[in-house]
Amino acid sequence: MKITIASDHAGYDLKNHMLSYLSEHQIACDDLGTDGNDSVDYPDFALKVASLVSEGIIEQGILICGTGIGMSITANKFPGVRAALCHNLETAEVSRRHNDANILVLGSRVLDQPLALLILETWLKTPFDGGRHQRRLDKIKKIEQAIKNGEILPAKSSQ
Ligand code: RB5
Repeated sequence: MKITIASDHAGYDLKNHMLSYLSEHQIACDDLGTDGNDSVDYPDFALKVASLVSEGIIEQGILICGTGIGMSITANKFPGVRAALCHNLETAEVSRRHNDANILVLGSRVLDQPLALLILETWLKTPFDGGRHQRRLDKIKKIEQAIKNGEILPAKSSQ
């Protein structure tokens, strides 16, 4: 298993904390930045991880910003990305079991570090349940395809 991770400046300290934890557990990491506390723009770092997931180059990634909201909004623009902003162990587990989330998003300013690590552990070890949840993911894929093909534009087509 290899973890690809990125953050903005707000998530930088938590990212380092996670990198230390992952290295202690002999889990290989690819750190795509940012590399310090200087202010940067979260979309630039969401793009780095989400594009790799979207293209199927990596299976899973982790993104961290202050609230996790900006990273989630950006990452979920990419086809095939199911980025889940998790605040507790329940959302971490269900985002894998039900949504097969392929990017874990964390908010460094709304989580303490021990909880963030527990969320990471839970997320990494929890499998996707499949079954009825796969049917729902298939519907998301169809919506993405229909938007791409210009078939879902209700506001425009009703004018
Ligand atoms: C940066 O100040 C902050 O806006 C960013 O980390 C994130 O919380 C955005 O959603």
